[in-house]
Amino acid sequence: MKTDELREKYLSFFETKGHTRCPSDVLVPTWDPSVLFTPAGMNQFKDHFLGRVKLDFTKATTCQKCLRTGDIDNVGRTAYHHTFFEMLGNFSFGDYFKEDAIHWAWEFLTDKKWLAMNPDQLSVTVYKDDDEAANIWHEKIGLPFSRIERLDEDENFWPASAPSQGPDGVCGPCSEIYFTPEGGKKVEIWNLVFTQFNRVGDPPNNLEPLPSKNIDTGMGLERTAATLQGVTTNYHIDILRPIVEAAGEICGVKYDPASDNGRRLRRITDHIRACTMAVHENVYPGANKEKYVIRRLLRRAVLDGHQMGMHQAFAYQLVDKIVEMMKVPYPDLQDSVTRVKNVIKSEEENFLHSLDDGIARSEKIFAGMRSANRTVVNGDEAAELYQTFGFPPELFEQVAIEHGFTFDWVGYKKAMEEFGERSGGDQVKLFETGPIESLKNSVRSTEFVGYDNEATDVTIKGIVTASEGDEESHLVDDCSTTGPEHKLVVVLDKTPFYGESGGQVGDTGRIYSDDFEFIVTDTQKDSDLFLHEGYLAKGTITTDSTAKAEVDTTRRAAIKRAHSATHILHHALQKTLGSHAQQQGSKVEDDLLRFDFTNMEPIALDQLTTIESDVNEKVVDGGTVKWETVPLAKARELGAMMLFGEKYPDPVRMVTMGDFSRELCGGTHLTDTKQVEAFEVISEESVSAGVRRIIALTGEKAKEYREKVDHSLEAMAKTLKCDVPNIPEAVRSLTGYVRDLKKAVNGSGKAPEAPAAIKPYNGKDVDYYHRKEMLKESARLLNSPLFESAERVETLYHEVDKLKHQLAEREKSGTLSGDDLLAKATTVGGTSVVVADVPGANANLMRQLIDQIRKSTESSAVMLFAAAEEGKVTIVAGLSKSLTDSGKKAGDWVKEPAAIVGGSGGGRPDMAQAGGKDASQIPAAMAKAEELAKTLFA
Ligand code: ALA
Repeated sequence: MKTDELREKYLSFFETKGHTRCPSDVLVPTWDPSVLFTPAGMNQFKDHFLGRVKLDFTKATTCQKCLRTGDIDNVGRTAYHHTFFEMLGNFSFGDYFKEDAIHWAWEFLTDKKWLAMNPDQLSVTVYKDDDEAANIWHEKIGLPFSRIERLDEDENFWPASAPSQGPDGVCGPCSEIYFTPEGGKKVEIWNLVFTQFNRVGDPPNNLEPLPSKNIDTGMGLERTAATLQGVTTNYHIDILRPIVEAAGEICGVKYDPASDNGRRLRRITDHIRACTMAVHENVYPGANKEKYVIRRLLRRAVLDGHQMGMHQAFAYQLVDKIVEMMKVPYPDLQDSVTRVKNVIKSEEENFLHSLDDGIARSEKIFAGMRSANRTVVNGDEAAELYQTFGFPPELFEQVAIEHGFTFDWVGYKKAMEEFGERSGGDQVKLFETGPIESLKNSVRSTEFVGYDNEATDVTIKGIVTASEGDEESHLVDDCSTTGPEHKLVVVLDKTPFYGESGGQVGDTGRIYSDDFEFIVTDTQKDSDLFLHEGYLAKGTITTDSTAKAEVDTTRRAAIKRAHSATHILHHALQKTLGSHAQQQGSKVEDDLLRFDFTNMEPIALDQLTTIESDVNEKVVDGGTVKWETVPLAKARELGAMMLFGEKYPDPVRMVTMGDFSRELCGGTHLTDTKQVEAFEVISEESVSAGVRRIIALTGEKAKEYREKVDHSLEAMAKTLKCDVPNIPEAVRSLTGYVRDLKKAVNGSGKAPEAPAAIKPYNGKDVDYYHRKEMLKESARLLNSPLFESAERVETLYHEVDKLKHQLAEREKSGTLSGDDLLAKATTVGGTSVVVADVPGANANLMRQLIDQIRKSTESSAVMLFAAAEEGKVTIVAGLSKSLTDSGKKAGDWVKEPAAIVGGSGGGRPDMAQAGGKDASQIPAAMAKAEELAKTLFA
């Protein structure tokens, strides 16, 4: 039976049993902060199990895309482990329980119409105290007790060991079904969880029966396919083996299952399949959280390839085959093949860039450890390898283990903290506990009335003191401690405050009555609960009392401007760059927005100008902004922008702007695009491989920015004595002049001519965008922040004056020759001693003079002094070979004179250099040099 067929059979079997077929949840459920990746089919139904949502159905079935990293070290080595895998599941929310769950599982597995497995090859386990399940298996199904094993909570409870170790929340015993292949080892294929308890605190008596019992099951799609197809490993099923073989072809290695390379090819298959699925859903390799997991998987695969001789990016070539194998259940994978390949390729290239150096460094570390008889890789070494060569510690650990070493994770984490960085990682905590969780059970949800109201009458439903660290935070009936240092979280029955979500920041404002005033400094959302964070300004706040909730409307208006502008920008980006320029991330604040989107290259300046003026055109022309709640299917039909990897409710809120933009969005918006007032892009930069970021301003902030651009340009025009349109030309000639002057002063060029005056401008008027481009271009030439360009131009004019002065001085000294200096030499013993002042000369020239003197004498000692700007002094001393041969050192001679001008220095025996700060002491220092020469060279 083909895997695609098995998947379909499972879902339709449970449909015949009255289940609703639901789509897989996304791979990264951003709505659930307790997990990085979806770990199981039940994850999307957590709130259903907890009785927190209105149920449209009480039985569901899914095939869920899952990603787990707990078994990552086994991937490729064992027959059944994956990171990415698919989990088939059937769920009951207070509907059927053990009896039906077990019967249906058995029917599906053994009935001729369905999987037709041989019942003799099936056995089960149950939780040690679960007589009910054991009896159903024995009496109703007819399994002999010899094939019903009773195990402890670590095996047969879900979450594992929940009774003794937690977490609190729903949990229950489970029953696992195993298949034993002919002559093979038994393999678990299905886990039936009987969610019947709510765990409260530690044992004993901590398992309360749930009023409504649930069923949660998980069948491993790949494992079950492997048993049905009679293959010995998941990697040989119909949808995986072709990928393994393709990997072999790309790497030029024949797939031999039992070899080291066989393991590598399976690991590459698993990891690149996981990366393909994740990147498709817009989860790109990066430095934190789920992005970091994807980076690790990709790099591990690259390293495997590297060990088989692949020194160029290769893994991206596997994407085509993966999509071919996965397209039946996930047809939209085909729409993003190019994007996924590009992202994987560029991350591969980044890593390969430093991989050889990283491997060389790790070999060195291992060699050092061997010779020092060390066995534990220390944290600093691992941190360095990650920081410098991008070698994730998990990878380094892997390589270390291959060399017979162990890895110090505690030390690594400490070292990374010292670098001020988090070390990634992916903790999975399925259920949370605490006061907010208790409120979720009692209050359930806050009604949001903020689309139409900015102030409303409310009832206080919960007050949580929020001390440092959640452990001390608890629910209180009332509170009268005032002041910003005493943070509180307030929960209301309904609220006009927008809770941070969809990239839009939370509202601020106040909640007040005759009895108190509470300042809201931020609003967050946790499931359907709105959390008003802030502090009490006066009075006493009491649960169940009524009050008025009032949003800061000025700030809200500025947030709306930024959010509506974000949609317009998204539209403009796709228009100019192409439809691949999809949203990757977004942050909307008051008159400030940050928008991340897919694009491999930086945006050219003229394209950016087009995008910016497109947005402003929409703002100037105006366009009605409307929102409505529509069925998801209708939104799709209307062509609303939908993002892969985003979970949309049904029905969904759709925001329409004019006739150009339709997005699914829960944020607050203007009613007309005119109200954005102004839009200014302030930067465009890279965030990670394949992702660019635009930061822009709207409304007041944008207008201020415009004024600053024009002021800077006017100031520059004045200083440069030219018209605004000529500024870049004038800047270019000024910076060129400074560069040539510097060369001349250093003795490596001729003195340049002063640049000619810039002619008055009499071309066409220059619009604002092009003026801004001119400022950007000038800032780039000046190597200065945008709004410091005018100052920088002034500084350059001062520099010109200074350089010209130095050049004049230098020209005076430049006419000196070694012979002129030698003419003034004194003789000590047989040595010609020259101590002279050479104003304006730089160290280079001074060394040339010394060389000339050394060439024309047998034995000479020369010390030259030059004053530069701000009293700085340069001293260079040189001795001829005859003197150094007899053990004299230039450095010994220069020390005391240097101290007199307030400096120090050193160098080789034949040539020493020193610097000082007090040019007025040059005559005294010269006298000292003469005096020392008399004894040193006598
Ligand atoms: N949630 C259960 C599991 O993941 C079915 O095993």
